[in-house]
Amino acid sequence: MLYILRVCVGNAFVSFIGSEDRTPKKRFSEVQKERREQAQRTVLIHCPNKISEKKFLKYLSQHGPVNSHFFYESFGLYAVVEFSQKESVVSLQNVTRTPSLGTEAAIPFRSRYFNLKLKTPLNQTSEQSSIQCRNQSSPSSKKLFELLCCAESVDDQLNTLLREFQLTEENSKLRYLTCSLIEDVAAAYFPGCTVRPFGSSVNSFGKLGCDLDMFLDLDEIENFSTHKASGNFLMEFQVKNVPSERIATQKILSVIGECLDHFGPGCVGVQKILNARCPLVRFSHQASGFQCDLTTNNRIALKSSELLYIYGALDSRVRALVFSIRCWARAHSLTSSIPGAWITNFSLTVMVIFFLQRRSPPILPTLDYLKTLADRELQPFALLHISVPSPEVALSSCLLSLPGERPHDHGREDTPSPKACLVNATFSVGKRPEIGGGSQCSVTVRHAEDKCIIEGHNCTFVRDFNRIKPSGNAETLELLLKEFFEYFGNFAFNKNSINIRQGREQNKPESSPLHIQNPFETSLNVSKNVSQSQLQKFIDLARESAWILHQEDRDRLSPSNNQPWGLAALLLPSVANSTSLAKKKKKPASERIKNLLESIKSSSTENSTAANG
Ligand code: GTP
Ligand code: MG
Repeated sequence: MLYILRVCVGNAFVSFIGSEDRTPKKRFSEVQKERREQAQRTVLIHCPNKISEKKFLKYLSQHGPVNSHFFYESFGLYAVVEFSQKESVVSLQNVTRTPSLGTEAAIPFRSRYFNLKLKTPLNQTSEQSSIQCRNQSSPSSKKLFELLCCAESVDDQLNTLLREFQLTEENSKLRYLTCSLIEDVAAAYFPGCTVRPFGSSVNSFGKLGCDLDMFLDLDEIENFSTHKASGNFLMEFQVKNVPSERIATQKILSVIGECLDHFGPGCVGVQKILNARCPLVRFSHQASGFQCDLTTNNRIALKSSELLYIYGALDSRVRALVFSIRCWARAHSLTSSIPGAWITNFSLTVMVIFFLQRRSPPILPTLDYLKTLADRELQPFALLHISVPSPEVALSSCLLSLPGERPHDHGREDTPSPKACLVNATFSVGKRPEIGGGSQCSVTVRHAEDKCIIEGHNCTFVRDFNRIKPSGNAETLELLLKEFFEYFGNFAFNKNSINIRQGREQNKPESSPLHIQNPFETSLNVSKNVSQSQLQKFIDLARESAWILHQEDRDRLSPSNNQPWGLAALLLPSVANSTSLAKKKKKPASERIKNLLESIKSSSTENSTAANG
């Protein structure tokens, strides 16, 4: 008898809860797919400053129902309008004309970025309603300072900072829309290509105002052609060959850069940076205000973004801590938007992840562990030979046995169950006398959706974070912030490398001042650019920040003297000023703080153990 069970286990994903908790709840690929599809139904409209929102929506609804819309200001008033159907966009384009420009000539490029004009000015009093614009920028330092000082605790401060700086729903939409508009341009050369956002725009660590990293994905086109191959024939395109992958990348980016420069509406300041290690086209998208970096052949970076997204989703403390550390680093010029010998936000994020892996118990799992949880491709018909009363029982045994090394260990309680990963199972039930008789069942499970090898690098890890057990660690953000500074203030950077794959220090394989192993291209150092003096600046500031927080602990019982406290004290320039003072007396100050920390550490370990107990 042959049973074929098709099990589609719906993952109970919840959308973002309210506007504040933007901890990811859905799979990365699912978010990317949904947002991309949404962006394709969306248009960007430059509007006159005075406009009746009601009439504007009524006018657009002639082309089909509008799902959602919002306005924002960026050198003028803009509207982002999402239709329910793609056809509405085409309908709108069909009634849109190319402007006639007097002395200048327009290049007739039909995009989804429009300019709305009024035939007659609005009647001021009756028709103009006040339009609410959605903010696309982070709060001023003054406002942030006020918010932090009003917070109830250091934990509250970190969460406040996260809430104020994280990308809003509208800002995320605008980022996907911008990629979609650029994709329209690139598709003129490469029909069927995809332009995907990556980096902080999608890894859940993006701050309002961060750059927009885009990746021109031509692989989908290749997959499409391989799917079509059948029978004994294999059809290939006639193509031009170039000597290397790098040259191909440079040529592709070069023409796209030209195209954006000449025809891309709103794309200004286009620079082709083709000789960089990772060739790119940099430009400003004026209407959205985003600084964009377009690369191609950069799949590993997209995978890194997915990995960070998963880490951000596993525990609500992760994003709060990363945002605060990134802001702290920016406030003290440890990071910069200009490339140079400084630490990058990406490196800082990896350092926070590493630190959280080192807690006891760990707050985050290692990358190797995430790899062991990934879907496996199992050998057909070689898995389970078990006595079972029914296929249903076989199925549950099979599910429990999947992650273990030995398939016969089914039903072990300590084995995590990868229920959501099983998409297809085949059971053949019959007599198997050689293993004890009775009703037997052979199970075939074939699914390896998580498996991912890019350019020979194994980038496999579990992508459904619902399958990862939450941490039992209950440390407060305040403690973690303090311990982060202490940990890295005393880290043996001279001999150790930071390694999130294994979650422990490794001997440094080369002599760069800061060594952070690239999680996927493990022979590379993501912080190779960091100079000794920049690393020293980081160490000094970390020690000083730890010291400030410890001082506050001591003074907590004394009456408040209206001084900035907690995170606010760490972000204010006063800390930087005192650092420059410390810098003048360099060695002694940092040694003094280090010694002080050592002594505080021994007493605080006792305190925190007592508190946890
Ligand atoms: P911000 O733009 O500073 O907010 O952060 P970001 O994470 O977007 O960093 P950045 O724009 O510098 O880089 C974009 C993405 O490229 C990162 O998120 C990483 O996925 C990847 N990336 C950046 N630097 C490196 C690196 O040195 N090595 C590797 N492998 N990937 C990197
Ligand atoms: Mg970026």
